[in-house]
Amino acid sequence: MAPVTCKLGIVIVSIALVLVEGFAPQRVEGKFKFRTKPIEAASSDSSISFDALQGKRILVVGGSGRVGGSVVTQLVKRGASKVTVGGTNEDRFEQSMSRWIQLFDDLEFVNTVSFESVQREDPASFEKVLQASSYDLVVHTAGPFQGKVTARNGVLEACVANNVAYVDVCDDYCTATAAKTKYQKQAQENGVPCLLSTGCWPGVSSLMAKQLVTKVLEENPKLSPSDLKVDFGFFTAGSGGAGATLLVATFLILAEKALMVVEGRRRPVQAMKEYKTVNFGDVIGDKEIAHLNLLETASVHDVLGVGSVKSLFGTAPGFWNTLLVDFFAGATNAMRCDVTTDKDPTISASLLYGHENLEPCVGECVAAFCCAILSGTVKPGVWFTEEAIQEGDAAAVLGLASVGAHTKEYLGTIDIAAEEMWGTTTSPNLVNA
Ligand SMILES: NC(=O)c1ccc[n+]([C@@H]2O[C@H](COP(=O)([O-])OP(=O)(O)OC[C@H]3O[C@@H](n4cnc5c(N)ncnc54)[C@H](OP(=O)(O)O)[C@@H]3O)[C@@H](O)[C@H]2O)c1
Repeated sequence: MAPVTCKLGIVIVSIALVLVEGFAPQRVEGKFKFRTKPIEAASSDSSISFDALQGKRILVVGGSGRVGGSVVTQLVKRGASKVTVGGTNEDRFEQSMSRWIQLFDDLEFVNTVSFESVQREDPASFEKVLQASSYDLVVHTAGPFQGKVTARNGVLEACVANNVAYVDVCDDYCTATAAKTKYQKQAQENGVPCLLSTGCWPGVSSLMAKQLVTKVLEENPKLSPSDLKVDFGFFTAGSGGAGATLLVATFLILAEKALMVVEGRRRPVQAMKEYKTVNFGDVIGDKEIAHLNLLETASVHDVLGVGSVKSLFGTAPGFWNTLLVDFFAGATNAMRCDVTTDKDPTISASLLYGHENLEPCVGECVAAFCCAILSGTVKPGVWFTEEAIQEGDAAAVLGLASVGAHTKEYLGTIDIAAEEMWGTTTSPNLVNA
């Protein structure tokens, strides 16, 4: 614990400097108004649904943690027959079990969840577990993932070698691309589908971008991906109920320069310096957000070929209050993705997602990607979500990922039913003024 505390202290001082020196909000007026559009029948004929979980055996590495625990409860709630937690500390698992029982008194399932001792860096620790229990899927949530370019991902290595599908929540671009490079060929040869960087952001955020980019290009065939701009906006009230691992991960990201892509060129900018006001829908409203170094900036440029991408993030109250006030409190999580182009200023398309609590939100989003991989729609190999989920399946996955969301909207100049983007919904559409 000492090295983490030490690192945390250094990073907190860095953040203080960034926030004190750099807090210069710039207000930009919102330009959208609401219009209700009749709901049409869901257009997706995708085979992806929660049925894919029925009868499945799933190992969640890091399942005692905040993110992993949320994944465990969602998987069992949605029909997985056997969910096992992998980790290093059985006492921590017992504590998590007690917490789940308190949180979900209607879910008798919790007593069926068991524990296996594994080490995320050591593939040998997974060999006998995977071979003995014939798992259908392993979900790796044992972060932090930051800066592990040369570290061994024993979980992925064991899955690829033992032909077990793999999903993770890696939120570090360099770590994720190193894993793709190292295991891609073997995963394809062995016929193993692997999904990197699932969750809400990254994960669902990148799929939101894919949906919008696909629709804009369909409607405007003269445009190419490189003509498009993708602007991501993220907002988490307070810490989002984060534990120490997520806070350390966030602080490490805060200390980095943020990547933005401008007309195909990567450009570093100072994180959390220049603020912009962005609307996250009726429930959450306007929030101030600023550049942060997030994985989807790079992956959406690389995978979808989008010319310009940036990712902005904000929280309220500020990080200092967060640490002191709501370290373990539930909190709002919001995502927005806007697609525009300088080639035609009349074109705009946006998706908005809002959830009252980050913790269940992450589990719901990861579970949606688990359904995608277990339904057999992800081809063998190691992929980001926007690579792996095909256009015809994206709405189904977004529909499952937004099962607990209070906001899932489309707004823009292209006339698209919300169901085309989010699967079935009862929400009104938002249309640009
Ligand atoms: N994509 C997204 O939307 C998204 C959103 C939020 C967070 N995240 C990422 O999710 C990750 C997890 O965050 P968290 O808040 O859930 O962390 P956490 O609460 O600290 O949980 C981490 C888990 O990892 C296990 N673990 C630690 N060292 C291990 C090892 N050597 N081998 C095997 N298991 C080990 C721990 O269990 P034991 O004590 O039993 O070892 C613990 O349950 C972070 O990297 C975070 O950045 C992604």
